Amino acid sequence: MDKLVIEGGSRLAGEVRISGAKNAALPILCAALLSTEPLVLENVPDLNDIGTMLALLAQMGVRVTREGSTVSLDASTLDNPTAPYEMVKTMRASILVLGPLVARCGIAKVSLPGGCAIGARPVDQHIKGLQAMGAEVSVEHGYVQARVSQLKGARLFTDMVTVTGTENLMMAACLADGETVIENAAREPEVVDLAQCLSAMGARISGAGTDVIRIRGVDRLHGARHRIMPDRIETGTFLCAAAATGGEVRLLGTSTGYLDAVVDKLMDAGCDIVSEKTPQHEAIVLRAPARLKAVSIRTSPYPAFPTDMQAQFMAINCVAEGSAVIRETIFENRFMHAVELIRLGADIKIDGNTAFVTGVQRLQGATVMATDLRASASLVVAGLVAEGETHVERIYHLDRGYEHIEAKLTGLGARIRREKA
Ligand code: EPZ
Repeated sequence: MDKLVIEGGSRLAGEVRISGAKNAALPILCAALLSTEPLVLENVPDLNDIGTMLALLAQMGVRVTREGSTVSLDASTLDNPTAPYEMVKTMRASILVLGPLVARCGIAKVSLPGGCAIGARPVDQHIKGLQAMGAEVSVEHGYVQARVSQLKGARLFTDMVTVTGTENLMMAACLADGETVIENAAREPEVVDLAQCLSAMGARISGAGTDVIRIRGVDRLHGARHRIMPDRIETGTFLCAAAATGGEVRLLGTSTGYLDAVVDKLMDAGCDIVSEKTPQHEAIVLRAPARLKAVSIRTSPYPAFPTDMQAQFMAINCVAEGSAVIRETIFENRFMHAVELIRLGADIKIDGNTAFVTGVQRLQGATVMATDLRASASLVVAGLVAEGETHVERIYHLDRGYEHIEAKLTGLGARIRREKA
């Protein structure tokens, strides 16, 4: 297993290009299952999770070709509507094949994802929605088994805001007979990006980005070409890394439009953030103060503060001036980075879903262990400002969601290298 070795103390400066969004690419790759014509996707990030999803689609019979960040998928030869446990257990987002398979094939056998480090992560809302659309869905021997002759449009109401639940049901509804209305829908920008791709394929969707999405089913979807949106969480992560180090960076190929809650909090912490936008270019420029002011956060569904940025903000609060309260309202166990940050000298107290962080002058480098994707990112941010060397172990978590992170950080002046653990 690899680890990252980080020598703290460098002030990040310079330019870095943000990659395509993992959490937009994953559902959009699954959208290819809905058509017998090729779907060509640009700006697909080079991530382990993307590789896992492409392998999952290929074993179903989808023809996949990749040239740099452009991926072409041809699902005309789809002949195995199954997602086996061995593949699904490594990536929960595999559940996103369920809706498209039921809509396209009338049958699907998808392994239950199981929980992960941050929570139980049930998929009951995905199942409830497909049942409401007429599918017979049962859970047997760890697999979701679904069958239907033709999905029917329905009015769906999810018990809580669920991003992949909304995405699964929206994709299924594209080929249903009649209109489907999803109420309490997730409003995340990745849902909107998926809706734009589906519309380019001929779907009839309105309301994406609001909490009521209407889909008028059509007989078939055709091929399309779509460019994946920039990764707002990678953007936020690099903004936090630059902010923690008192740096000045320009992030290329991204915009603040998807990150208002995060940008507001970084400005409250003392950063100066400017958006650049021309027809050929979009970027964010951040200038940080020598030391940040502590900022409290409370995670909630979009457009509020994203849970995927909670760990990174805990890291910057560890060295900020003052104290902050961090409330995690989405997942039941998303504070595992706290004990690792404490190993670096942070002052953090946890009480249920609330963390109390008091900034210290300096963190001290140490060996720490990554436990999940965004926890890993928070440990890298902390390592950039800790005194001496920080070894972040089990960085396979990091490689799931950050493209070439050590090369990008090195380009900004960080002293960071990958080693065999
Ligand atoms: C998506 O996960 C993202 N993953 C997550 O990003 C992100 O943290 C999360 O949304 C919240 O924004 C992808 O898009 C691939 P949810 P998802 O369904 O869809 C409960 C990352 O770091 N729930 O919105 O799985 C669930 O347990 C990852 O990139 C049910 O109870 O999250 C959670 O408490 C981590 N039943 C809450 O809802 C269901 O059927 C929100 O989960 C579905 C969800």
